Amino acid sequence: MIITIDGPAAAGKGTVSKVLAERYKLAYFDTGMIYRAVGLEMVLSGFDLSNEARALEIANHMTFEKIMALSTHKDFRSDIGGQAASKVSAITSVRQALLKMQQDFALNPVFADGTKANGVIYDGRDTGTVICPNADIKFFITASMEVRAMRRYKEFAAKGIDTTYQKVLDDMISRDKRDQERQSAPMKPAEDTIILDTSDMDADAEIKAVLHIVEQKIKSAE
Ligand code: C5P
Repeated sequence: MIITIDGPAAAGKGTVSKVLAERYKLAYFDTGMIYRAVGLEMVLSGFDLSNEARALEIANHMTFEKIMALSTHKDFRSDIGGQAASKVSAITSVRQALLKMQQDFALNPVFADGTKANGVIYDGRDTGTVICPNADIKFFITASMEVRAMRRYKEFAAKGIDTTYQKVLDDMISRDKRDQERQSAPMKPAEDTIILDTSDMDADAEIKAVLHIVEQKIKSAE
């Protein structure tokens, strides 16, 4: 089974992806991590984020091992990592270089320990539209900008990351704009996706709603 979950930052994609992965024994592929890895490597190497040749070179040599190593860096999840990811992900050649790695994962999905999974849950911006257009179930999870910024601000505060609500909100506005307006694979719901607005939902309500839809889909496919 392949499930795709797309949508903007802090809409609730990660929360629900992890629950679905656990329940249906699916390998969880957080595709944003690849762009964060490329973006952070650019920052750490001192390259300008608009330098396409350098970004493409890094993307061409990106591996799962490198992503895991970079993910322990303090800025991987910070707004520095987020902005860097957003900038390199707007470069068409970089997206193309990272396409096969994402698509190939569904051919032989495995968990981190190498054991076989029943399928994949993709989390990203273009996984239902570009990476896996033939997915069994597609979601586009969203929420209002203010709700998403407050959620992300609280996550940062809990991790001790020094920032303000306004900074998080500004970062989100610019990332959403770049993600929606880029030429290659702009963030948008796939035609056959299920759109879920979680603005008025807590995590439990969101999980309940998604599980209900997935169970219905599985039953109707039997
Ligand atoms: O999901 P996350 O916030 O980790 O993603 C970081 C950035 O990577 C996003 O703001 C977006 O610009 C980019 N991204 C993308 N396509 C994906 C996943 C992430 O362009 N499938």
